[in-house]
Amino acid sequence: MLWFKRRRQLPETEKIVPKHIGIIMDGNGRWAKKRGLPRQAGHVTGAKVFRTIAKHCEKRGIAVATFYTFSTENWKRPPEEVDAIMNLLREYLKESLADFKKENIRTRFIGDRSVLAEDIQQLMAQAEEATKNKTGMILNIAINYGGRAELAIAARQIAEQVKAGTLSPEEVNEALLEQHLYTAGQPEVDLILRPSGEYRLSNFLIWQCAYAEYVFDDILWPDFSTKDLDKVLEIYAGRHRRFGGV
Ligand code: IPE
Ligand code: IPE
Ligand code: MG
Repeated sequence: MLWFKRRRQLPETEKIVPKHIGIIMDGNGRWAKKRGLPRQAGHVTGAKVFRTIAKHCEKRGIAVATFYTFSTENWKRPPEEVDAIMNLLREYLKESLADFKKENIRTRFIGDRSVLAEDIQQLMAQAEEATKNKTGMILNIAINYGGRAELAIAARQIAEQVKAGTLSPEEVNEALLEQHLYTAGQPEVDLILRPSGEYRLSNFLIWQCAYAEYVFDDILWPDFSTKDLDKVLEIYAGRHRRFGGV
């Protein structure tokens, strides 16, 4: 009876849109292999799908979308593949500097960019600068991102403040730690989407996902469409989140 009441009280599904969605763009390599193509071909199509889906997230009224593009662990891949991914990033940044004008999207990059090629770092800074006054969705692009590395950096920054005497250990709490994350000030993640039939987080947004809903899908990322995202958002809207309450 109680269950029934609670379900009835849910607002109409289309109104419940996640404030923050995290998308693990996975399955590019398998998509290419299935077609007898080199893995890089999967990344090329995957990058196109990323552009389409990012725009669709904005259209659907999502406030923040974080796309997992390259993890701190992806350096283990063959150098040709890493180079191909970095070249795609470079191309995307160059092309989108023109595209940004048309969109109302704020682009940000999360992860340790200091080890990336100098020109890529410059393009990233330009993209952030060019879109900083936009009022629409925040698009976080995670590059050389790892959730553990993010937490370690936050811990180090806090430790330095304590050492300098500007912060006391008693002041260290969840809110303070949150301020030291790449996503400081952004809403926590409501929904994580991972296509490609893998059911894991792979070091993505581990702090921000503490109460996220998860939707896993078998579709390989290069095949993922706006309709698929609409389906995922519908599944999310039907979820009943409790946050530890009743
Ligand atoms: C995701 O696709 C893209 C990156 C991790 C850069 P994968 O390249 O991991 O594709 P699969 O998982 O091998 O199919
Ligand atoms: C996660 O995918 C990273 C990105 C999508 C950028 P991986 O393909 O690297 O993850 P694992 O190795 O399957 O866990
Ligand atoms: Mg993968």
